Amino acid sequence: KKVVLAYSGGLDTSIILKWLQTEYGCEVVTFTADLGQGEELGPARDKAILLGIKPENIFIEDVREEFVRDYVFPMFRANAVYEGVYLLGTSIARPLIAKKQIEIAEKVGADAVCHGATGKGNDQVRFELGYYALKPDIKIIAPWREWDFKSRESMIAFAEKNQIPIAKDKRGEAPFSVDANLLHCSSEGKVLENPADEVPSYVYSRTVDPEAAPDKPTYITVDFEKGDAVAIDGKKMSPATLLTKLNELGRVNGIGRLDLVENRFVGMKSRGMYETPGGTILLVAHRGIESITLDRGAAHLKDDLMPRYAELIYNGFWFSPERELLQGLIDKSQELVTGQVRLKLYKGGAYVVGRESPYSLYDQDLVTFEEGAVAYDHRDAAGFIRLNALRLRTLGQRKKRMDGK
Ligand code: ARG
Ligand code: SIN
Repeated sequence: KKVVLAYSGGLDTSIILKWLQTEYGCEVVTFTADLGQGEELGPARDKAILLGIKPENIFIEDVREEFVRDYVFPMFRANAVYEGVYLLGTSIARPLIAKKQIEIAEKVGADAVCHGATGKGNDQVRFELGYYALKPDIKIIAPWREWDFKSRESMIAFAEKNQIPIAKDKRGEAPFSVDANLLHCSSEGKVLENPADEVPSYVYSRTVDPEAAPDKPTYITVDFEKGDAVAIDGKKMSPATLLTKLNELGRVNGIGRLDLVENRFVGMKSRGMYETPGGTILLVAHRGIESITLDRGAAHLKDDLMPRYAELIYNGFWFSPERELLQGLIDKSQELVTGQVRLKLYKGGAYVVGRESPYSLYDQDLVTFEEGAVAYDHRDAAGFIRLNALRLRTLGQRKKRMDGK
């Protein structure tokens, strides 16, 4: 019996690793991914060895480019936000981790996979829908739903008994739970649990306080090709390099902080704090380039569908026919979303200040208040308005009749 564990190298997944060995007596294969969470992967390897994992059972992979190219960018083509504001930084990383675990399971002949998400949240759903979609006969182990640790102390005691190294600051209760990758950093729980209380400043890690950001704005340009950002200030960059650069620009200007009470798929409300510096700039920039390159019909249709698409990703249905169908529509809409956006970054805000494209639909001749355009005759507007008003006038006449003239 072999199980592929999504292993961060942290205390909780190390406890899971030991628990799998002792409780299930199975051979553990670890998968550790660099998703841009900003942690060295070396220590995860050392710790896995220390906990008795054979070197051939340790899989470590830098998936940052794949993450941004095949997950983040396709999602940003849709301008996806959940409940109006959440940029889905955690949600979009789960399908990639699930896919990698299943690939490794196939390679090493494992019959089970395991994740460290709790039994109360969205992440368990996202991981497991991914596993089942890609390997319908997979066995799933979710320790948080199975084991009988009743408290943090009993977990720490188990760790001590099993010689799992515990960092000094990890002995007590964790102050809050963090999930991080190249797109965002999210914090939930403990000091954040009461939604009436402001997020303490020490919870923020990716952005300076907007009030402390420079008094001088930063101007940048972002180039797009077919809906994807390809260059900053004229310099071509790979997807992950580009997002890293936008994160730096967002960090210093205090951009992308969000304090949100959201509806989890499992039914409860939860309060979280998100920092998505680069993603916030990218969303504004993408809407900027779409504003001149997309036709109104296409733009409004995609805006109508966006909340559905965002909800699919939030709920964990990345590998579903409905998500793929919507993706096909969204990608088709991006064929001419190419050009350059100029942005001003200033004290927590990202603003479009200029846009241009070889495929622009913006017609200055048509819109100008000066006389001139031949495609538009002012006199046509009178009939256009009269016909659109026909229903409204009929309704108005009925109201008058009903009110007794
Ligand atoms: N609520 C967010 C989501 O469902 C983040 C979940 C993980 N974050 C965390 N701090 N554990 O996508
Ligand atoms: C967790 O429950 O593991 C994190 C929060 C969530 O998945 O919603």
